[in-house]
Amino acid sequence: MHPMLNIAIRAAREAGRIIAYNFEQSSISVAEKAKNDLVTNIDRECEQKITEVLLKSYANHCIKGEEFGVVGNPDSEFVWIIDPIDGTTNFYRGVPHVAVSIGLKVKGVTTVGVIYDPIRNELFTAARGEGAQLNSKRIRVSDTRSLDSAVLATAYPHRLKEKTDYFNRIFLKIFAKSADFRRAGTASLDLAYVAAGRLDGYYEMNLKPWDMCAGELICREAGAIVTDFDGASNYYENGNIVVANPQLIKELLKLIRE
Ligand code: IPD
Ligand code: CA
Ligand code: CA
Repeated sequence: MHPMLNIAIRAAREAGRIIAYNFEQSSISVAEKAKNDLVTNIDRECEQKITEVLLKSYANHCIKGEEFGVVGNPDSEFVWIIDPIDGTTNFYRGVPHVAVSIGLKVKGVTTVGVIYDPIRNELFTAARGEGAQLNSKRIRVSDTRSLDSAVLATAYPHRLKEKTDYFNRIFLKIFAKSADFRRAGTASLDLAYVAAGRLDGYYEMNLKPWDMCAGELICREAGAIVTDFDGASNYYENGNIVVANPQLIKELLKLIRE
């Protein structure tokens, strides 16, 4: 196994322990960072723990976390991108659908990814060129060939309500042609579920790097195509991501771009 994947798994499991321990506790304190954007004391505790584990092994690396920004060596070629709790709204409300997401970019190329669901004890992992796994077993995207039998995931633009009309136009076109949709509230798990073939595709607007870094690698290593809404690779810049198996991606992109 890639040695850095090993350390990423250790960090994700430590954070997962903190999440599971605190799940449904009444002592969680919450603050609104921006409209519809929550942070709890547990998000911060998890990010601190992940940072501590990573820097213990790789003191000279750079960490970019959702809650504390850049820590460590800002000039390092090794940049860890961390979402300590993806699905904070779920976590805070006691909805058992949350994950820790840790990705590593080496000279800008995503090389290692871990998404850990501590409630179900599901660990999604990938290292570049080595495939993707769920709890150490190889995973692949679904082989669904046409949208009319596809179950997809997305998310409402809850932090960008001025985009609601744009979102609705896309959604209605795709909904009309697909089997059904899920909106579960944890982007990293939407990506992981596409990689595992549980969902056939997923798209969302306005994501941050920490929502998708681990997931885009796990998806690609599981055979998915990952693009932005234009079919290009600028999803880190514009925040808009589309993921599906190679059979469905064209159909999805056509409807999004029309
Ligand atoms: C959010 C979740 C949600 C997605 C949002 C993300 P957070 O992350 O992944 O599913 O729709 O775009 O920001 O704030 O819970 O880490
Ligand atoms: Ca997130
Ligand atoms: Ca988060």
